Amino acid sequence: MPRGKTVFVTGGTGHIGIAICRACHRHGARVIFSYRRQRRIAEQLLAELPGSLAVELDLLDVPAMQRAIDALYAQVGIIDVLVNNAGISQVMPLPLVEEEDVDLIMDVNIKGTFFVTKNVVKGMIRNKGGAIVNVGSIAGTRMFEVPVTYAMTKAAIHGLTFALASELKRFGIRVNSVVPGLIDGGVGEGVPEALKKDFVAHCAVGRTGRADEVAETICFLASDKSSYINGQNIAIDGGI
Ligand SMILES: NC(=O)c1ccc[n+]([C@@H]2O[C@H](COP(=O)([O-])OP(=O)(O)OC[C@H]3O[C@@H](n4cnc5c(N)ncnc54)[C@H](OP(=O)(O)O)[C@@H]3O)[C@@H](O)[C@H]2O)c1
Repeated sequence: MPRGKTVFVTGGTGHIGIAICRACHRHGARVIFSYRRQRRIAEQLLAELPGSLAVELDLLDVPAMQRAIDALYAQVGIIDVLVNNAGISQVMPLPLVEEEDVDLIMDVNIKGTFFVTKNVVKGMIRNKGGAIVNVGSIAGTRMFEVPVTYAMTKAAIHGLTFALASELKRFGIRVNSVVPGLIDGGVGEGVPEALKKDFVAHCAVGRTGRADEVAETICFLASDKSSYINGQNIAIDGGI
């Protein structure tokens, strides 16, 4: 597991983010996480996870994000693993979606993820190695009644994973993504009851997932135990 590695988790104060931070810490990693609005949760997590570090970061502010990541490298020297977890959803029917809604979700889920990655990767290249785990979604890979804007941004995460894995192979950097199904809490909270039932009816395990189940898979992909897994989308959906 990612013992001894420095892991940077974006959106570390969100539902799945907290579980990722806890799991990586439990497996012996040094945990750095970003938060945006949830300073109180960030402080609680810092107290809970000795040796961890919190960085204030808004994916919508690319120049400030770049400065924050430069400052982070100056402080810690190395980031072995990047977990691109921060993201938003928009529960609204297609006819109600306006241009600013599309801009927002694309800016956070795609552009923000891209620039965090670009800035962290510069240090990984300097340090000649690393692993990146992107958090995609079943919304981007399978046909379900999910918000269209969310689905298209999550589909982009899988394209990002393939192209990055290919471009970064020469630097010893592996890139994979996890593809969670419907997970209790977080962005899954806004999913209407009827759609939750639809998901469970299609799921072989017969239930929604838990954040810790996503987190454990991410820890595995972050660690050298997955050294021969690269450019993959790993489904965590109970079997759909
Ligand atoms: N829950 C599910 O069913 C499910 C299923 C598949 C995939 N996922 C994916 O899992 C990831 C985590 O989601 P979650 O369910 O844990 O939701 P969540 O609890 O809402 O967490 C989302 C995290 O992203 C951060 N974030 C949002 N906008 C940001 C911005 N502009 N800049 C920086 N950080 C920002 C949030 O910070 P603030 O709270 O401070 O804004 C929060 O920490 C997302 O990528 C989501 O798409 C979730």
